[in-house]
Amino acid sequence: MSTPLIGVSKSMLKIKELINHVAHTCLNVLITGETGVGKEVVAQNLYAESTRSSKNFVKINCAALPETLLESELYGYEKGAFTGAHRKRPGKFQTADKGVLFLDEIGDMPLALQSKMLHVLQSGEFSPLGSDQDFKTDVWVIAATNHDLEKSMKRKQFREDLFYRLNIIKIDIPPLRERKEDIPPLIEYYFRIYKSEYPDSQGSKPDPDTLAKLCEYPWPGNVRQLQNCIKKQMVMNSWKKIFQELPQDHPPELIPEVPSSRPRNEASEINVHEELSDERVSIISQFVDLSTSSEKLFEDISLKKIKKLASDRVEREVITFVLEKVGWNRSKASKILKISYKTLLYKMNEFKVSPPVK
Ligand SMILES: Nc1ncnc2c1ncn2[C@@H]1O[C@H](COP(=O)(O)OP(=O)(O)OP(=O)(O)O)[C@@H](O)[C@H]1O
Ligand SMILES: [Mg+2]
Repeated sequence: MSTPLIGVSKSMLKIKELINHVAHTCLNVLITGETGVGKEVVAQNLYAESTRSSKNFVKINCAALPETLLESELYGYEKGAFTGAHRKRPGKFQTADKGVLFLDEIGDMPLALQSKMLHVLQSGEFSPLGSDQDFKTDVWVIAATNHDLEKSMKRKQFREDLFYRLNIIKIDIPPLRERKEDIPPLIEYYFRIYKSEYPDSQGSKPDPDTLAKLCEYPWPGNVRQLQNCIKKQMVMNSWKKIFQELPQDHPPELIPEVPSSRPRNEASEINVHEELSDERVSIISQFVDLSTSSEKLFEDISLKKIKKLASDRVEREVITFVLEKVGWNRSKASKILKISYKTLLYKMNEFKVSPPVK
């Protein structure tokens, strides 16, 4: 199920309205906005509202893969098409047929692949690598980027004809600091979500003063950064500390409206939100706070510590899963888990796993 699009600001209401209109037309959509503003959430909501919602929503991150891999992922390949192609594999255009193909970070697609993409979008046909056969494809293309594609076009880094193909409907999501009214309902929503994920947490909601401060903060990492703070509050239960740790070196007037385009592989200071793929971010952010400065982040990262946290968490989930399956019969569960009864009791105690109270 897709995340509901939370927001009461004028711009968010307009976006919701646009989603309702566009979802039934399946016209190509380009979603723009800074990192963490909710581009993927909007894409998922478009899909959920559309007549294609019973088919696949296929995502590909154009920034995360090297050119050749991106090409084979998009179009698939025949057995023997290149070294290592031991068997035929369908591409995203095939798996997304009749559904949605979400081209994330389209601004990072290499020029050679942009030409090929344009051809596929114009003709509705593609051929897998190593094949001389053309296949028809019927995909609804939704693309997203945090680059200023107009600038990229001027610099000849993005093809103008492809831009106009993708940009039939444009949805620009403003940064959170320009729609402060969305902050209270977002806090309310994520508080509820995390409370059910971490039922033992003591974290309290912000009082009116704290809420006012939260609404004034510029949130350079947008909703993702706000989410991380709420998660942190669940554990630390100290809005004061969380505030102190928020990076303060981003006064709103210094934050560019859209981050400037950065050529691939350019060695630059690590910007966590730009450089990590979504999946990686969601895994790592469970154990470290990615919204802090790189310096603090590197201080917090310890592989040994994270390994222990991750393995504890997985163990806890597996133990709970098995216990639930066998109606909390510990003897049966220990046999399935292939550990002694005593070890199971020890782990249940350590991870605070107990049957639900009736
Ligand atoms: N309006 C919203 N309502 C609910 N959740 C939201 C909203 N906007 C963003 N989020 C949440 O914030 C996080 C970041 O959103 P998302 O991944 O869609 O951002 P993005 O714009 O694609 O960021 P990036 O450019 O870094 O890929 C996600 O966990 C998402 O669920
Ligand atoms: Mg995204």
